[in-house]
Amino acid sequence: MADIDTASLAPISQNPDIRYLGRILGDVIRAYGGEKLFRQTEYIRSASVDRHRGIAGADEIDTGLEALNLDDTLSFVRGFMLFSMLANLAEDRQGVAQENGATVAEAVERLRQNGVADEAINDLLAHSLIVPVLTAHPTEVRRKSMIDHKNRVADLMKLRDAGLDETPSGDRIDEALHRQIALLWQTRPLRRERLFVADEVENARAYMQDVFLPVLPMLYARWERVLGHRPPAFLRLGSWIGGDRDGNPFVTAEALRHALGRQAETALVHYLDGVHALGQDLSIATGLSNTPSAVLELAESSGDNAPSRADEPYRRALAGIYARLCATHVALTGKQPPRPSAIDGEAYASPGDLRRDLVVLANGLADNGAGILASGGALGRLIRAVEIFGFHLATLDLRQNSDVHERVVGELLKVAGVCPDYSALDEAARIALLRAELGHSRLLINRWHDYGEETVKELAIVEAAAQAHARYGPQSITAYNISKAESVSDMLEVNLLLKEAGLYRPGAVPQAAIMAVPLFETIGDLENAPQIMRAYFALPEIAALVKARGYQEVMVGYSDSNKDGGYLTSTWSLNHASRALAKVFAETGIAMQLFHGRGGAVGRGGGSSFAAIRAQPRGTVQGRIRITEQGEVIAAKYGTVESAELNLEAITSAALIATLDHDGVSEADETRFAAAMDMISRDAFRTYRDLVYGTEGFNQFFRAATPISEIADLKIGSRPASRSKSQRIEDLRAIPWVFSWAQARIMLPGWYGVGQALGGFADKGLLAAMAQGWPFFQALLGNMEMVLAKSDMTIARHYAGLVPDEALREHVFGEIRSGWNAAHDSLLSITGQPRLLANNPALDTSIRLRLPYIEPLNLLQIELIKRHRAGEADERISEGIQLSINAIATALRNSG
Ligand code: PGA
Repeated sequence: MADIDTASLAPISQNPDIRYLGRILGDVIRAYGGEKLFRQTEYIRSASVDRHRGIAGADEIDTGLEALNLDDTLSFVRGFMLFSMLANLAEDRQGVAQENGATVAEAVERLRQNGVADEAINDLLAHSLIVPVLTAHPTEVRRKSMIDHKNRVADLMKLRDAGLDETPSGDRIDEALHRQIALLWQTRPLRRERLFVADEVENARAYMQDVFLPVLPMLYARWERVLGHRPPAFLRLGSWIGGDRDGNPFVTAEALRHALGRQAETALVHYLDGVHALGQDLSIATGLSNTPSAVLELAESSGDNAPSRADEPYRRALAGIYARLCATHVALTGKQPPRPSAIDGEAYASPGDLRRDLVVLANGLADNGAGILASGGALGRLIRAVEIFGFHLATLDLRQNSDVHERVVGELLKVAGVCPDYSALDEAARIALLRAELGHSRLLINRWHDYGEETVKELAIVEAAAQAHARYGPQSITAYNISKAESVSDMLEVNLLLKEAGLYRPGAVPQAAIMAVPLFETIGDLENAPQIMRAYFALPEIAALVKARGYQEVMVGYSDSNKDGGYLTSTWSLNHASRALAKVFAETGIAMQLFHGRGGAVGRGGGSSFAAIRAQPRGTVQGRIRITEQGEVIAAKYGTVESAELNLEAITSAALIATLDHDGVSEADETRFAAAMDMISRDAFRTYRDLVYGTEGFNQFFRAATPISEIADLKIGSRPASRSKSQRIEDLRAIPWVFSWAQARIMLPGWYGVGQALGGFADKGLLAAMAQGWPFFQALLGNMEMVLAKSDMTIARHYAGLVPDEALREHVFGEIRSGWNAAHDSLLSITGQPRLLANNPALDTSIRLRLPYIEPLNLLQIELIKRHRAGEADERISEGIQLSINAIATALRNSG
């Protein structure tokens, strides 16, 4: 019989913070949920802990779960979810996620030690571009209110670490924590309404305002000290929110305008606050200092004639800058700023003009001998912020599916009488036609024609993009990503649409204010990517355009390639494609910028970004990299100033190392290893495809054994779960595919096919050598190991029980289980470990702590799904399912 520990919800953890917070949560549950709920929760918890320690069977968990009525069930699930949330918080505080060598200071130190000259580092940074790109991909199950409460708990824990008893406002910290956790307990974790694009814009905007705006300038100041010089703004922020319309009908021209407007407003208010604060600070008087003439001129032209400030030129100049910023706010957002200016000013035409004024003041301070005031400090950070964020804050990408472009271009050509049926043309004919169209200045659009709805919508987008350039500057939108790109014409079609809005200008050297960026995302498209890019660059006008721009971006998709070909083949194809693309770019003398479309779960390219960037093949980073940051990953990495610092340091340092001191293997080894991977990948691909696309009834198994249909009802994003009404796996979006396998603890996209392929590879010595010395293979195995440790075939068996057809169930589950065993066994034999995660104690502890909390949730979820699917109409059943999905995702972390 499991013991009941009446004072704790976390007795197995060695982490004192987890114990402390678990105890408070226990008290809160008892106080607000009642003694009975507390005892029931505690009973199930300790029964589950005992089972995971191997000292009890599953019967006691079942007994505990059976005793819960529906109301208790909802409260129980919330309790377990909150425990996981608090445990995540405690671990993050301990920097479990932190990686060694993951700061720019450490990277620079390593580079210097390895003989890389400072000039090489500086040269690289002069041409670098590193961009985390926030997307609204729907994998964040938590409401923002829950995340905000959690962050307040973290803030209180920081005060407690500092040895304080009281908060700055005089509350006792222990009591404040109780209060905060009680609020968490009483906050509804599920959204009542679905999310709109505007909500997604606001969520991201909060991170931009609270985290990115302050953190980036601060990091630059730190890096400036490390590097001994001032690098340009190579690390910037990107976003897809309001610009990614692939499969999301709600992202319209209006949404694009809204997103950009809100971003601009946020940036300008930040600058206004900064200028206002500087105005309070820089009270330097002419009689007491030597003010350079440039500052005096700025003060004179400011329009600030207040007698009280007559001898304070910096304050007067800042009042003028403030007034001009207010006018800029009105011009760009159509609204007065929160604190309008007392004097009038002319709107700044560009961020460069604002920067110029601020630099006058910084130089003035330096001339004045007050160098210490000028170099850095609040003014330095403000100048840096303007360089990084301009008036747009984050560069917003456009994204649409190539099929849509094809239809729109088809209609334009038809209406203009150029081509009656574009879709009937073969690739060569399409290219010829599009090039001819791109070559002359006549436009296709007829303003008086009634185009179809889709065409009208798409044209409105490019039009809105052109307006955005005029309003916020060219940095506001730089890339147009083309989903499911598979040909040269896919890129030319986008250039043609851009041309209609004046964003592509023909000429001997054409100019494109927005770059058409192909996204290659199936195994076949990744294989073809190098030849497609070679053919694109072979078009003289494109070569001229790209050379003038200096670089070209290619995006590679992790999730869809995984869904198409399985974990190992996807990972290897991405590596292969990157290397082959790097060769094509090198031949044509064009700098390559890869954009990695990855999510949080391993099946979507998740795992450590630091390791992932360092494991990129030699020559593929070149100081330029963009990476998507999505869903729950955004809160995990950028939820607080501290975590954002760690993660931005990590990606920047990894990019430096990957470019200048690649820790790959010798060329001879690489050739040997690559040949082995080609073989293994072929096998893994076959095994994966046989199961997922070649097994009759597999789709039926998937839809019954996982909560895929229940996930589609979660209100976690504005985008529909499927691109079309079809039930085919090919048409299902990768996110719900990965998410539902994670819930059922099968996590097939993170390992299936790998075990059989590795097991069948004869040269075990070679595999061991690859695991020892090849970062690519280490990352591949390491991520798979984490997934294997989080999956559980005993629980998976229960989910399989949801499949009504017994023969199908036994057959498919049998394949899955033997595949899992093969992956598990081959991983241990290659790495020489006695058990999973033996070499990664921190992660091992973290996962072991979680498992006893997840299993009862899984068992409950299965019961509720059974009742739901049997037609029971009680709303608490669907609510319980949604809550359990939420709780399991929180406990598993990076599962979406
Ligand atoms: P997508 O993204 O469905 O927007 O292509 C896939 C993913 O991020 O997993």
